[in-house]
Amino acid sequence: MKILAIETSCDETALALLSLDKETQSFKVLDHIVYSQIEEHSQYGGVVPALASRLHNKKLPGMLQEFIHQNGRNIDAIAVTVGPGLEPSLFVGVNMASLLAEVLGVPLIPVNHMHGHMFSGLLNEALEGSIPLSYPFIAYTISGGHTELVLVKAYNEYEIVGITQDDAAGEAFDKVAKMLNLGYPGGPKISKLAQSGDADAIAFPRPMMSSGNGNMSFSGLKTAVLYYIRDNPPQNDTDIANICASFEQAVIDVLIAKLNWAVNEYNVNQVVIGGGVTANTKLRQAFEHYAQQNGIELLVPNKILSTDNAIMIGVVACLDIIHTIDNRPNKVNGNLVV
Ligand code: KG4
Ligand code: ZN
Repeated sequence: MKILAIETSCDETALALLSLDKETQSFKVLDHIVYSQIEEHSQYGGVVPALASRLHNKKLPGMLQEFIHQNGRNIDAIAVTVGPGLEPSLFVGVNMASLLAEVLGVPLIPVNHMHGHMFSGLLNEALEGSIPLSYPFIAYTISGGHTELVLVKAYNEYEIVGITQDDAAGEAFDKVAKMLNLGYPGGPKISKLAQSGDADAIAFPRPMMSSGNGNMSFSGLKTAVLYYIRDNPPQNDTDIANICASFEQAVIDVLIAKLNWAVNEYNVNQVVIGGGVTANTKLRQAFEHYAQQNGIELLVPNKILSTDNAIMIGVVACLDIIHTIDNRPNKVNGNLVV
């Protein structure tokens, strides 16, 4: 069967078409597209919610028309992100998906955006996947809005065992980039500059690293960077690169320490990471190193699946269809999770 997925929770308008083979429990991406609004938002230094929904409204109908024109109307279900995210943006996707489901007479599958990030590691480089999950496992979602360690006990049985007490990791990247006038989004810019910096140059703090639980904090680290820049204004590219590399390393150290806590606490041997920050090369290397050293099977999303996309929404819908009977309503009934 074919599933059309729609994602509009923040500043990406995205569509994906997946085919699912229920018998072999395998799925494959047939087509996908992401329109990023980053350029429009970057002049304001971050995402402007009203602009985001306006751009989704402007872009989505044409994108869908083109997508269906290219791939045909042979669609068996529609999956749509229902939250968490920016409410006006979510509504654009949900309204369009509800309408389409009604017109095509197919079921509508509401998907939680964070579940998308949690399961995006299921797809390989060729954008094909199956269900290699061994429960319980840890899903680590590290994005601009969330940083969470989730113990997945069974399909649809989740427990958040660690969460940031303030800023998300990606938010800290974005705010530090702003302090250095690097523009939005900060993650990719900081990680690029960090490549030529010395990660040991500045001893930034690692808040809550040894707190003995899964919780974390990135706000204190962000403030430490702010004070450092105030007291030691960067004089050249090397200074900036050193700040970026030292900050990046502090974030990675905290994230790995918390993963280590969760792995030992819950005795898991499988970890799936996801979310925009997992596009970071140094972070991916650190996670891979940790997994190797500790005999953990690590599922890392293809880089294009780290940041927001509709494929991951389609993957969750596939899991949902595999695990439940497909007699579903084609209305979300307004139960947006925002
Ligand atoms: O998952 P995502 O696309 O959107 C949310 O659901 O939040 O994540 C976006 C976040 C931004 O904060 C961005 O700066 C960060 O992911 N990010 C990165 C990198 N690429 C994106 N952070 C660090 N290194 C990167 N290479
Ligand atoms: Zn996201």
